[in-house]
Amino acid sequence: MKVRASIHKDFAISEIDDRLYSAFIEHMGRAIYSGIYEPGHPTANADGFRTDVLDLVRALKIPAIRYPGGNFVSAYNWEDGIGPKETRPVRLDLAWRSKETNQVGINEFAGWAKDAGIEMMLALNLGSRGIDDARNFVEYCNHPSGTHWSDLRRSHGVEQPYDVKMWCLGNELDGPWQIGHKEAKEYGRLADETSKAVKAFGKGIETIVCGSSNDAMPTYPDWERQVLEECYDSVDYISLHKYFGNSSHDTLNFFGKIEETGRYIQSIAGAIDFVKARKRSKKDIYICFDEWNVWYHRREQDSKNWRSWDWPEAPELLEEDYNLEDALFVGGLLNEFIRRSDRVKIACIAQLVNVIAPIRAERGGKAWATSIYYPYQFASLYGRGTALRVSVDAPTYNCQAADDVSYLDAAGVLSKSGDMVTLFVLNRHLSEAAELAVDLTGFGDARLAEHFVIGGEGGDIRAANTSDNPERIKPRAGSGVGVEDGKRLRGSLPPLSYHVLRLALT
Ligand code: AHR
Repeated sequence: MKVRASIHKDFAISEIDDRLYSAFIEHMGRAIYSGIYEPGHPTANADGFRTDVLDLVRALKIPAIRYPGGNFVSAYNWEDGIGPKETRPVRLDLAWRSKETNQVGINEFAGWAKDAGIEMMLALNLGSRGIDDARNFVEYCNHPSGTHWSDLRRSHGVEQPYDVKMWCLGNELDGPWQIGHKEAKEYGRLADETSKAVKAFGKGIETIVCGSSNDAMPTYPDWERQVLEECYDSVDYISLHKYFGNSSHDTLNFFGKIEETGRYIQSIAGAIDFVKARKRSKKDIYICFDEWNVWYHRREQDSKNWRSWDWPEAPELLEEDYNLEDALFVGGLLNEFIRRSDRVKIACIAQLVNVIAPIRAERGGKAWATSIYYPYQFASLYGRGTALRVSVDAPTYNCQAADDVSYLDAAGVLSKSGDMVTLFVLNRHLSEAAELAVDLTGFGDARLAEHFVIGGEGGDIRAANTSDNPERIKPRAGSGVGVEDGKRLRGSLPPLSYHVLRLALT
């Protein structure tokens, strides 16, 4: 198939917020316990955190991490996780029917995040609790000293406040499964008042109000409108969540869910604009896509298990073995985030370790990168700067998820220093190579500096990185693509392949 494309330095979409490449981790399954934290593991540091996992995390250069939930947060008492570890209560986690030992709480997690070089984005419990608990937690984290909660923090050995800037106003409160599920207006009022209380702690604090749990919720998108009508003036972002699957093994439809996500983003943007207009407001609210990932391989099996199990501690839950198809999908989805970086400012891969995660860690054993680790890493490393429009002229297909889906999916980013353009390209055709020609005349002279590829070698698209074969899917150096006269990128991209093409500008 022949594909023509063009990209020009003057056709910018938006500055990309670095936090587009953030992550999420929850007290759930083995994400925290035996994921990032496992005292006694051969690689554990003095604080009990696994350094093999930490190394994999650091290599992703994650800007921010949402913590501690998720559904977990909606019945969580943050005070259970502070003070001497031996006196912390063991509680039942109602969200995942598990036992929570509270051996990791805010101070341990903050230490880990600092070591990993990641900023914290903390979620407040607006399910079983409310404003009073929220303001106490913010005081514990952010106030310097001289008050009950700040001095308690100092007595726990943390002299300096964490100065956390991002606060999530609960989690998925539109969902009937959520502890403390609410009606839209009721939640919007609570979010408004909580946001005002949180922001009273000082300048620079941003709050994120809960949008719909997904675009199949019966209350979507009216939830967004009603919630924003209550709290538009006091919040900064509205959250979106979406998980993806391919149980029917229809690869093209799976890949069409990238476009479906574009529609979802556009609809939320529409709800924001509607409320903004109704309020005659000058203020903008942006999107925080704070849970996204592929989640289906073990979904059915897991949901049967956890609903009936007997409150285990750190059980195996949602431990997906991601395959090549998932990696290609994640590459394309991140392209969509780059293309919509005008509205989506923060996005969090859900989750980070063991639970629907780019990193897996065996209890007492090894850690490895799943297939989706790599496109996420490429986007995080090379997707910072200015998103540029890439116009693509390629054959298209229709599927259940979307119509007119281009077989070639592309995003382009001009680096912050202005001397590098990165093209992220997915050929989602099942059998044909893309004979690609990209017009680069808008950049002066360009040279192909680096080319990485995932897939495109034929074979089984459902081959996964597993404990036995942890490196089956990984990137390799690309070939068959070059720049002619500094002005035209040409090459052949095999079917079912994802490419990172880094162009040095002179
Ligand atoms: O990430 C797993 C769960 O998915 C989260 O706890 C919840 O917010 C969402 O439904």
